[in-house]
Amino acid sequence: MKSEEYNIKYVYLLTASAALGGLLFGYDTAVISGAIGFLQTKFELTSAMKGWAASSAIVGCIIGAMLAGTLSDLYGRKKILLLTAALFFISAIGSAIPQNLSFFVVARIIGGIGVGAASMLAPLYITELAPASIRGKLVSLYQLAIVLGILIIFFVNLLIQNLGDEVWNVEQGWRYMFGSEILPAALFFIALIFVPESPRWLTKKGKETEALAILAKVNNPSKADEIMAEIKETLNEEKGTIKELFSGKFRPAIIVGIVLAIISQVQGINAIMYYAPEIFKEIGATSDSAFTQTLIIGVINTLFTFVAIRMVDKVGRKALLLYGGLGMFISLFAVGLAFFLEWKGLGLLFFILCYIACFAFSFGPVTWVVISEIFPNKLRGVAMSIATFSLWVAVYVVTQLFPILLESMGPAFTFWIFAAMALLGMIFTYTKVPETKGKSLEEIEKAW
Ligand code: GLC
Repeated sequence: MKSEEYNIKYVYLLTASAALGGLLFGYDTAVISGAIGFLQTKFELTSAMKGWAASSAIVGCIIGAMLAGTLSDLYGRKKILLLTAALFFISAIGSAIPQNLSFFVVARIIGGIGVGAASMLAPLYITELAPASIRGKLVSLYQLAIVLGILIIFFVNLLIQNLGDEVWNVEQGWRYMFGSEILPAALFFIALIFVPESPRWLTKKGKETEALAILAKVNNPSKADEIMAEIKETLNEEKGTIKELFSGKFRPAIIVGIVLAIISQVQGINAIMYYAPEIFKEIGATSDSAFTQTLIIGVINTLFTFVAIRMVDKVGRKALLLYGGLGMFISLFAVGLAFFLEWKGLGLLFFILCYIACFAFSFGPVTWVVISEIFPNKLRGVAMSIATFSLWVAVYVVTQLFPILLESMGPAFTFWIFAAMALLGMIFTYTKVPETKGKSLEEIEKAW
């Protein structure tokens, strides 16, 4: 499709506004890595309490993902996105001021609810507005925002840490790390005030004229009429009951959504992202070089997300998942082998980076693309909630299990388990995931 068929600047502006939700997702989840050591000293945390301080936000994410679908079906995508921005704000202040662990954990759970909700609503919103021919690219920009958020907070933490000595950091430094979340939260809130509601949600609620005006602003008026006719047709055809998702014709769609979400996690991406410095220290890196290597991971993750942005609407979702899956399988197998044979050093770093690169152009962005576009208009909110909820439960399980697996079976077998999951991911993609490149949401829906 040529650019005159849609208002390119407006489309990117709306995408960027919603994608800020992804930036906060990355920022607010990764902030903990720089702060956890100081928190441990400040509140004299045992290992179990430390684990809880680090993972409490993910519990919030699970709750947020669970609620956001129904809430956004009832009140609209925009209103609930605004609510998530408010939660980010409250959590930023709340996690900066605590005098005890319980207060901190509550604030982190509130922020987590924001992350969980935004993690599904931002791509959902983008998908429901996007012209079909660039929908994959636009949702991949959301993933880019996530990885940029991770990278930015990494630098912010470093900057803050260098402002004072260890004592200052234990007392104050970490407070600024969390407090800095206020800035992106405020930006997100302000940007959201100006975006329109999702036209597909409006149509579902009978506000057709408003919806048509937005579609005409995003696309051109004649294209808008065409899209509106398609949306109405699907809305008339669908019953929109949850039963349809589990026993009706959309059952394969919810299975693809849930399995893809889980598979994107059980290949260990966040185990590596969250524990990178520890992994590197284990293979003999000093604190400084572990830091640099972790930074390289962030940069590679960002760079290779651009491959998906460029390719996802050209070669399609499936091809990216399959090539990426193969690359991840080989790299994870090699990482395991390197640990098994005790080859430490650069070779190992190389394979970890290959793995990150392959994830960054495949399962990282494409999972969000696919789970936001495969569900029917009437059920998209709740179905995406179910898939995203599964994703966050998987994040929780993997991050909790990873240190235990490392200790009980050793790193080689742990990475081989991740490799086996990558293989399963490829088989599942090959046999079950439909190709959705270039199709309108309504065409995808009719194809089930
Ligand atoms: C994807 C994953 C998320 C991960 C991120 C890192 O968005 O869903 O869990 O943290 O990529 O690249």
